[in-house]
Amino acid sequence: MLDEIIKMFKRKGDFVSGEEMSKKLGVTRAAIWKKIEALRNKGYKIQASPARGYKLIKTPEFSVEELKTLIKGDVGGEIIFFESIDSTNLIAMKLAEKGSPEGTVVIADSQTKGRGRLGRAWVSPPMAGIYMSVIVRPGLEPKDATLLTIMAAIACATAIRNTTGLQVKIKWPNDLMVSDKKLGGILTEMKSDPDRIIFAVIGIGINVNMKRKSFPPEVQPIATSIKEELGRIQSRTFIIAEILKEIERWYKVLIRTGRSPLLDEWRRLSSTLGSKVKVTAGRDIFTGTAENIDDEGMLILRLPSGILKRISAGDLTVLR
Ligand code: BTN
Repeated sequence: MLDEIIKMFKRKGDFVSGEEMSKKLGVTRAAIWKKIEALRNKGYKIQASPARGYKLIKTPEFSVEELKTLIKGDVGGEIIFFESIDSTNLIAMKLAEKGSPEGTVVIADSQTKGRGRLGRAWVSPPMAGIYMSVIVRPGLEPKDATLLTIMAAIACATAIRNTTGLQVKIKWPNDLMVSDKKLGGILTEMKSDPDRIIFAVIGIGINVNMKRKSFPPEVQPIATSIKEELGRIQSRTFIIAEILKEIERWYKVLIRTGRSPLLDEWRRLSSTLGSKVKVTAGRDIFTGTAENIDDEGMLILRLPSGILKRISAGDLTVLR
């Protein structure tokens, strides 16, 4: 009901009387007063006037109620929010297993066991980042799961560009980069049969209002946040809403049109292609020129010998 009240405030843009609210929502005036108090406790500034009712003055930096009012499509049709959770990917995998529909989104304000790629931890303090996981049921072959990561990377880069103006680039395979520093990453996990993905969970981590000194010391030189780049706090609500809108758009492109428009867009947003790079893949280290990505999202590296090598996963550093 809180999101209904926010919607009423937004539609009207002025005072809304308690009577109008209670009629519209079918509850007593006392119940409305309780909901207004609940919104205030969540950080909403609401002016009250005995003669005119309530007016929304200011919304908090993040509000799941407000986020729900901004969702227009199927992605985010169901949003499950936790103040703190071990990992949104873990929860989303459990929910998907129990049958949660495609487009269900799990969001947390903080994670105690945030997971990164290659078994690493993802530092997830409160009020600092976007930690969310989207359930999809794409019916793709397991070997094409990388396309989901590519799709999400494009959606995140575009959404952050649209909402902040930052020129976000993608570093193979899935890093969101600004000024050559890591702003975010994507971790796709899935359950599959030999021939089909049964469901996948696309986990998205973005450093939004994180201060440089809050990153672990070893990460500080190579990580950044939207706040560090812009010098001001950004609303996670609007960035998440834009990301979900872009996922809706690019997921439809993938399912209806196929991989080629995604791969083209990924190449356009890439910070990697054409550069001299070092790739660590397990125990192997390769240096060469990042020539392209293939149809499955694998990196095609031209080795100094001239031979082309396809690499499915690894850590990439651009050499200067
Ligand atoms: C990377 O290593 O670049 C990927 C990081 C992915 C982190 C996100 S935060 C939300 C979701 N839940 C997790 O435990 N991990 C992903």
